[in-house]
Amino acid sequence: MSFINSNVSVHSSDYKSNFAANKAVCDDLAEKSARIRLGGDEKSRQRHQTQGKLLVRDRIALLCDKGTPFLEVGLFGAYETYSDVVPAAGTVAGVGVVHGRQCMIIANDATVKGGTYYPLTVKKHLRAQEIALENRLPCLYLVDSGGAFLPMQSEVFPDRDHFGRIFFNQANLSAAGVPQIAAVMGACTAGGAYVPAMSDQSIIVNKTGTIFLAGPPLVKAATGEDVTAEELGGARVHTELSGVADYFAENDQDAIRIMREIVFHLGEKDHARVSLRSPEPPAFDPEEILGIWNPDLKRQNNPLEVIARIVDSSRFFEFKKNYGTSVLAGFAHIEGMPCGILANNGVLFSESALKATHFIELCVTEQVPLIFLQNISGFMVGAQYERGGIAKDGAKMVHAVSTAKIPKITMMLGGSFGAGNYGMCGRAFGPRLLWTWPTSRISVMGGEQASQVLLAVKQGQLAREGKKLTAAEQDAIVSPIREKYEREGHPYYASARLWDDGVIDMRHSRAVLAASLATVLNAPMEKTNLGVLRM
Ligand code: COA
Repeated sequence: MSFINSNVSVHSSDYKSNFAANKAVCDDLAEKSARIRLGGDEKSRQRHQTQGKLLVRDRIALLCDKGTPFLEVGLFGAYETYSDVVPAAGTVAGVGVVHGRQCMIIANDATVKGGTYYPLTVKKHLRAQEIALENRLPCLYLVDSGGAFLPMQSEVFPDRDHFGRIFFNQANLSAAGVPQIAAVMGACTAGGAYVPAMSDQSIIVNKTGTIFLAGPPLVKAATGEDVTAEELGGARVHTELSGVADYFAENDQDAIRIMREIVFHLGEKDHARVSLRSPEPPAFDPEEILGIWNPDLKRQNNPLEVIARIVDSSRFFEFKKNYGTSVLAGFAHIEGMPCGILANNGVLFSESALKATHFIELCVTEQVPLIFLQNISGFMVGAQYERGGIAKDGAKMVHAVSTAKIPKITMMLGGSFGAGNYGMCGRAFGPRLLWTWPTSRISVMGGEQASQVLLAVKQGQLAREGKKLTAAEQDAIVSPIREKYEREGHPYYASARLWDDGVIDMRHSRAVLAASLATVLNAPMEKTNLGVLRM
């Protein structure tokens, strides 16, 4: 058996300075995450509770089996994005365990602008449904929403991936055999009314739950009819008269009890077949990741030291160990679940791309889920490498990553730049889940390189006219680009826009990857046709 030998000295000055820097960013992440988890402001939370309603995270805690992990998706959604503060984009989403079964939970937070849908709320809801579809997870909707955020209607209503897509997805998830279950625990107005109406089964809470296409004021304006919210679309109307809802609940707790019971009675579905082993903890402490990882992107990091703190028994069976060494490839288990791991160890050369492609073929053939640990500045450039055909070798890797139908999971540890992001399964390449460390950075190239490219282009234009830039003019081009790339490449900026599924504490990597693997194994694996790999 192959075990990783760690060469880390916890007493070295490098270890200590890395530890301090990484601890600071993880503390910052924890502090910001805790603030987001509170939801709306104190006044809204109090008002919500005086109506007899549970706060959204208390609803989720009650819904999930005690002591099980909740793999939250999009916690930083809409972070510092709008003029309003919209914690978690106004909707909590994630994979929770109900009666031992992993489910996608999508729950509106009514303390955030009445649970209405901003553009990023829609994007987050659609992403959660996509995760549910790809991994065959039943969807549990805890509905408490005023529907579209009306001031931004042009960004939430008309286009394909806007509000309507939620209902399109519900119908198609149901058709694909993925159960759709809704509990109406507050307002469910206009477009939002279709969430329970399009579900396979729905629950409504007495007094607080309402479902209607138009609320009382709109009805009055449209038809002159005077009607209370309760008479228009309350729990009795919908469970006794209209049949829009199937189960009457006395309160939030009762609704959650019923939802758990619905899940209890769901049928068993086909899932991925893999050989599970007994879980073993890593031989090295995951806490040490803080000290071994140098957050300076210009410094090389050895991914083996990270893998040693993630995988069972720190056992890693390395493939082509001495070939194309700027990428590591190998097989391991995490919490007893098998996986292949591809990890960057420097810039990608032709040999590394060929090795990665070969390894992807192996994982596809053996039907092993594949984890990408990204820290990549890109593919090697220069005449020697172009003549060696690096473009076609890189293309093979990108091709194999794109067409491999095995579950792929990506974690960005450091840089995620240019075509390196493509080859290592960035967002566009459909990883089932994508996580980032707070030390990661993402952009088409580094800020320094981008600013130099733009400077060179400007200098070329001026040279044609026989002109030159002064040092101050050069700085006026370079500095703003560098600053912009730094800001936009930050993981909070990226996660706010849902370019990933969440920023995680680097010490939690094993737990997050284990929960991710457990999630992806819910769906049976499809056969792959890799297509034509350019030789
Ligand atoms: N778009 C934008 N903002 C909305 C909104 C909407 N659809 N619905 C509610 N809000 C805002 C309110 O302006 C308020 O903002 P503020 O706190 O900054 O003043 C906040 O959400 C809370 O609304 P409030 O009415 O005070 O809360 P509530 O708990 O009493 O009622 C609703 C919540 C959602 C039931 C109620 O606001 C409502 O019926 N909204 C209209 C729903 C609708 O017709 N939507 C159509 C969408 S297609």
